Amino acid sequence: KSISLDITKAQQFLPAGAIMALKEQTVAARKGLEEGTVPGNDFLGWLHLPSSITPEFLAEVKAVAEDLRSKAEVIVIAGIGGSYLGAKCVIEGLSNSFQWLVKDAKTPAIVFAGNNIGEDYLYELTQYLQGKTFAIINISKSGTTTETALTFRLLKTQLEQQVGKEKAKDLIVAVTDAKKGAARTCADKEGYRSFIIPDNVGGRFSVLTPVGLLPIACAGIDIDQLVVGAQAMELQCAVDVPFEENPAAIYAATRNALYQNGKKIEILINYQPKLHFYAEWWKQLFGESEGKDKKGIFPASCDFTTDLHSMGQWIQDGERTIFETCISVENPDNTLLFPHDEENLDGLNFLAGKHIDEVNKNAELGTRLAHVDGGVPNILISIEKLDAYNYGQLIYFFEIACGISGQLLGVNAFNQPGVEAYKKNMFALLEKPGYEEETKAIRAKLAA
Ligand code: PA5
Repeated sequence: KSISLDITKAQQFLPAGAIMALKEQTVAARKGLEEGTVPGNDFLGWLHLPSSITPEFLAEVKAVAEDLRSKAEVIVIAGIGGSYLGAKCVIEGLSNSFQWLVKDAKTPAIVFAGNNIGEDYLYELTQYLQGKTFAIINISKSGTTTETALTFRLLKTQLEQQVGKEKAKDLIVAVTDAKKGAARTCADKEGYRSFIIPDNVGGRFSVLTPVGLLPIACAGIDIDQLVVGAQAMELQCAVDVPFEENPAAIYAATRNALYQNGKKIEILINYQPKLHFYAEWWKQLFGESEGKDKKGIFPASCDFTTDLHSMGQWIQDGERTIFETCISVENPDNTLLFPHDEENLDGLNFLAGKHIDEVNKNAELGTRLAHVDGGVPNILISIEKLDAYNYGQLIYFFEIACGISGQLLGVNAFNQPGVEAYKKNMFALLEKPGYEEETKAIRAKLAA
């Protein structure tokens, strides 16, 4: 079953015909992706990625994942940004919420690192790994990202100390560029197994490359179904599908129409805690793709009902510059019925016999109605359940919507020049060789 999209509760906030007014531009944007005529067209490798993935390639990824799973108690995934969030969002979304507490000899713990520079985080990680057999997947397209490279050196050193250099070789896998960067040099020199990140797929669009697929397979998730779901969505959003039937085109046009009408912030909403990191992935996808040239919808997120007890007030009643996009999951995986209690001291017997999900669904409906009444446009995206197939659909849906939306906004959705500014300052402050002039300049600025 395909995802479904309901924009009626967004449309009511727009002038009549506002979405259809963007139809021609949206169709042209979809065509621009197909024909490779868009800004950033050297990074369109994600567009037909799902349909180009072969069973042989998936078998290769699964074989390496199985090998690591059989050898390691813990698999550390080192990566940041696009080399982190895709795997994290799928693994969190499709694993048991308490996996990390379940001692299961057959399933290695999956731990993420290389996405921060917290000394305590890294100290505690190295402590946790003491005496354990662990594997490392070092993921970096450039192969030079500070957070990941620094973490990898720490972990590699520890692993070699714990199991020796020879054995460590079998426990380290690199996912990086075919030729460039320190991660590639190191993998080739040390003889690690490695996977290549295609040149024409940018970090935030790379979840369906080994960047995402290898860690996801390591977590025991069905990557075949993930890809099948993405392939189904690739077909549904194909260039020859009419605008009215292309969910990604409609979503892209709707959010841009809202933006043009003063709705500057999009809040991705979920009612399932497992979707928390889905929103983190989505925020990177849209934030890094669209926030440029002093333009762009600010992508935010809330986990409901949790955040109804914190951000709910603002959303209901604050400045009316927001809209919500809700990912609704139709069916839970499990059944839990609310019990009857003779004494009814908590007064909750009106819920007795109901599914917990029925309570959640009523919270969802009640919230949507309240927020719409409060002036918050609502886009509703429903999926049947949280599984690999639906995740695959959702991933591709948002990727292609983002590729279209960036053009409607008039930006190059596939570069990220803005992320260099902090790195330049950090290297200047840390006196990295080659940054001598910048070091002088930044010291003078701080002293002024
Ligand atoms: O989307 C992007 O391009 C970035 O978020 C990168 O993925 C991130 O900076 C990590 O880069 P790299 O894979 O080169 O280490």
